[in-house]
Amino acid sequence: MSTQTSGLAIETAGLVKTFGETRAVDGVDLAVPAGTVYGVLGPNGAGKTTTVKMLATLLRPDGGEAHVFGHDVVREADEVRGRVSLTGQYASVDEDLTGTENLVLLGRLLGHGKKAARERGAQLLEAFGLTEAAGKQVKHYSGGMRRRIDIAASILNTPDLLFLDEPTAGLDPRSRNQVWDIVRAVVAQGTTVLLTTQYLDEADQLASRIAVIDKGRVIAEGTKGELKASVGAGSVHLRLRDADQRPEAERVLRDLLAAEVQLEPDPVALTALLGAAASDTAADRAARALAELSRAGITVDNFSLGQPSLDEVFLALTGHDTGHDTKDEVAA
Ligand SMILES: Nc1ncnc2c1ncn2[C@@H]1O[C@H](COP(=O)(O)OP(=O)(O)O)[C@@H](O)[C@H]1O
Ligand SMILES: [Mg+2]
Repeated sequence: MSTQTSGLAIETAGLVKTFGETRAVDGVDLAVPAGTVYGVLGPNGAGKTTTVKMLATLLRPDGGEAHVFGHDVVREADEVRGRVSLTGQYASVDEDLTGTENLVLLGRLLGHGKKAARERGAQLLEAFGLTEAAGKQVKHYSGGMRRRIDIAASILNTPDLLFLDEPTAGLDPRSRNQVWDIVRAVVAQGTTVLLTTQYLDEADQLASRIAVIDKGRVIAEGTKGELKASVGAGSVHLRLRDADQRPEAERVLRDLLAAEVQLEPDPVALTALLGAAASDTAADRAARALAELSRAGITVDNFSLGQPSLDEVFLALTGHDTGHDTKDEVAA
């Protein structure tokens, strides 16, 4: 009930789940504002699915607490179940049925009349670009179509909170974009979305706030801007007066700032990646870069500061990049 006033869809404190020796979730605190997309970003094995399963009442926590819209996920599991949906879990799609048959069947199971179930099914198929495939068996759907019908099935009843656990894993860019549009449409209808992802750009595209998790712990949390600012990384884009001075500018930036330098196709342009630094901000480092270039007699016509990417954020926070774990997964 405190949630009604605090506006939180999810609130956890010290949430723990262990599997034997593995502390899959190791004291997670989350506060997810209602009506937003909240991103849980972390590599394979970070504890994302285990966290989602506890919040969706499919797994019992070993420690800590979790509330969904003010309801305790253990003591008030029924109330929680009545308000949430988890793609591919609660609403499982039958491969041998067509898109329409699946949605109508699930709609009927949820208590809708025949006509209402048909109408809602057709509406969702249309909204998700599946009208043409409506009469085809789901086993003949592409990966992207399959992911979309899964999401459609999970929002038949417009849940207050939708868990999307890596909804675009393995999809091609076009299908990913279609799923992203669906997520935006779902949240526009008032549903809160908890989205887990290994993709930094996905969290960046969709989420208002992001928790970065690694080895069962939240290692950073905030808005995208806050996360990027806390890391202090960034880049400075420079345009020189004279293209002949570019090799010298490159050397100055590399030697004096230990910056990684990228030469742009435009012969007067270059970008210095300032990297993460605890002691000074990206703006401080950019100012130093400009001072050093000026001292070296290099004329800078203009410059701009770029925000660090979420890739840089993750690297700075975890000491390893996200690709490392993704490769392990492929090999496994
Ligand atoms: N049912 C289980 N039994 C044993 N270990 C598990 C089980 N589920 C998850 N784990 C382990 O818990 C850790 C977190 O897993 P998971 O929550 O699936 O991570 P993610 O979804 O971020 O990839 C991993 O080390 C995983 O091997
Ligand atoms: Mg997972």
